[in-house]
Amino acid sequence: MKFTELIRARYSVRAYKPDPVPDELLQQALEAARLAPTAANRQPWRIVVIPTAGREEALRRIYDRAWFVQAPLVVCVCTVPEEAWTRRNYDGKSYADVDAAIVMDHLILAATDAGLGACWIAAFDPAAAREVLDLPAGVEPVLFTPLGYPADTPGPKRRKPLADLYRVLPD
Ligand SMILES: Cc1cc2nc3c(=O)[nH]c(=O)nc-3n(C[C@H](O)[C@H](O)[C@H](O)COP(=O)(O)O)c2cc1C
Repeated sequence: MKFTELIRARYSVRAYKPDPVPDELLQQALEAARLAPTAANRQPWRIVVIPTAGREEALRRIYDRAWFVQAPLVVCVCTVPEEAWTRRNYDGKSYADVDAAIVMDHLILAATDAGLGACWIAAFDPAAAREVLDLPAGVEPVLFTPLGYPADTPGPKRRKPLADLYRVLPD
């Protein structure tokens, strides 16, 4: 898919078929994540791939939506904050979450390109996620997505007009 088509084709998929995700497509999506840029190339992220079969109840403690556990896989992007670049010369801001978002975007766009569906999820219970995924200290769950074949269709893209979202400073 051309990039311009890909970014229009991606949407938040909230219904999934039970069909398995071929391992080759999962590996492609993970490789796209690996190639994501990160601040100072620190790569302060880890991914956990969770097969949903048999774990539905535990996963719904993390995010209680039926569609969350419909796909055969759920993916969690985590950060390792102590590995992340911080703007320490100024305000100390950590870019760990920015890095995680880029990783997730690469993964989801690669999945979309392969005909798979996904949905960014931030509104999950982090304590439940830590427990269910058995995350070690120092690893923070930041984003989840189901990964599987879509069983719904995209609605119209509702976005603010571009003119409301950017400005160019005068010469
Ligand atoms: C950082 C982030 C967090 C999100 N968290 C959730 C979520 O917890 N639950 C959910 O259903 N959708 C979530 N979404 C999906 C957004 O609601 C969705 O991307 C937005 O409404 C635009 O729709 P589209 O993805 O279909 O283009 C999230 C999206 C982003 C980028």
